[in-house]
Amino acid sequence: MEQYAIKGGNPLVGEVEIGGAKNAALPILAASVMTDETVYIDNIPDVRDTQVLLKAMENIGVFVKHEGRHKVIVNGAQVHNLVVEDEYIRKIRASYYLIGALLGKYKSAEVALPGGCDIGCRAIDQHIKGFRALGAEVVIEHGLIKTRAEHLVGSHIYMDVVSVGATINVMMAATLAEGLTIIENAAKEPHVVDLANFLNSMGANIKGAGTDVIRIRGVARLHGTDYTIIPDQIEAGTFMFAAALTKGDVVVKNVIPKHLESISAKLLEIGCEVKEQDDCVRVVASKPLRHTHVKTLPYPGFPTDMQPQITVALGLSKGTSIVIESIFENRFKYVDELIKMGANIKVEGGDTAIIQGVERYTGASIAAPDLRAGAALVMAGLAAEGFTVMDDIHYIARGYEDFHQKLQALGAQIELVNSERELQHFKLKVG
Ligand code: EPZ
Repeated sequence: MEQYAIKGGNPLVGEVEIGGAKNAALPILAASVMTDETVYIDNIPDVRDTQVLLKAMENIGVFVKHEGRHKVIVNGAQVHNLVVEDEYIRKIRASYYLIGALLGKYKSAEVALPGGCDIGCRAIDQHIKGFRALGAEVVIEHGLIKTRAEHLVGSHIYMDVVSVGATINVMMAATLAEGLTIIENAAKEPHVVDLANFLNSMGANIKGAGTDVIRIRGVARLHGTDYTIIPDQIEAGTFMFAAALTKGDVVVKNVIPKHLESISAKLLEIGCEVKEQDDCVRVVASKPLRHTHVKTLPYPGFPTDMQPQITVALGLSKGTSIVIESIFENRFKYVDELIKMGANIKVEGGDTAIIQGVERYTGASIAAPDLRAGAALVMAGLAAEGFTVMDDIHYIARGYEDFHQKLQALGAQIELVNSERELQHFKLKVG
């Protein structure tokens, strides 16, 4: 069983290259089947979730050819199955993007209900509401979401909650509907904009992505394109906070600093230096960290996907901090693991963490409860005194490419071990 072995104490120093955004790559890969022409997509992160989605696409007849590690050529002309139900697809959330893509193109889709990280109830009512507004029938049967339509017709849709997934799914289906669709209270995340740009490069007519009103004028068909995915905001933010936690000095390269503003603002508040250049950000943490308050919000607010990372940092910051999670109701499960490392954190009402900063964390045996919390706990291990051994690290591989290798290159003492013997060997090696 794979584990991470970590010896804390080294400040992270150096440069790290950020990959393509997972949460942009997933809808863009799904949307690439919406044309019969060939699509070239570059800067795809080589992570578990994109691998699983590509496999599911191949299973329904999509031609997929890898060109190197980060580029794929996709052709969706030979899709022979509109039922997506393989053993892996249930494990990833983004499987549901195939509903919007296939419904738009073929007016029919049946996709296994999505899985993904266990961070809350993760409803899909807004997706269903959007598909129905476009004229599709939607039923849930035998663990599948089944949608079908004679015609898809544009509609005026008000989203009751700001949802990345529902905005993306409805935008895909509406792209090939007849007439105008207006999505109000749309999500504004950079990956929503990236998908709109991708679809527009295929001949779609989408305006307003990045604001809360998106207008989609349906087109009859889409054509091939050559597209490069934006850098990953959350991978970048994770390394920025890793610098803060380990009192390091890290240049995070290949980023769009505008996407990182809420993250940079919080790092400045807690006493780090953040220097932005065109496509990189340098984080220097030379002073003791200070407390702050933070509430997760849809973009441009502080991202829920950075909540565990900032909580772990505030656990070592002087004073009392409060973190409010307003997007998902079950995203503090990792706090129990952090308490094993000496953190003083109380979670109240499921959505509020009250953090009393401590001087240090101490290494412990812990487990990753989900993707982002897993990354945050690794960072805690890197800042801790002594050894940490972490189980369930497969979660981290869902969304971070070469996570421990990138940390090693910054001076972290972390290794992937497969047995007790390898663990002992690591301990002997790093002392
Ligand atoms: C996306 O999930 C991301 N996943 C998540 O990233 C991210 O945490 C989340 O957006 C918020 O930014 C992918 O892009 C694959 P939502 P998604 O729909 O689309 C409620 C990561 O670590 N809601 O924006 O599932 C829902 O319960 C992952 O990379 C409804 O009520 O999130 C939640 O409270 C984890 N009805 C809120 O909206 C719906 O129909 C936001 O969810 C849909 C959502």
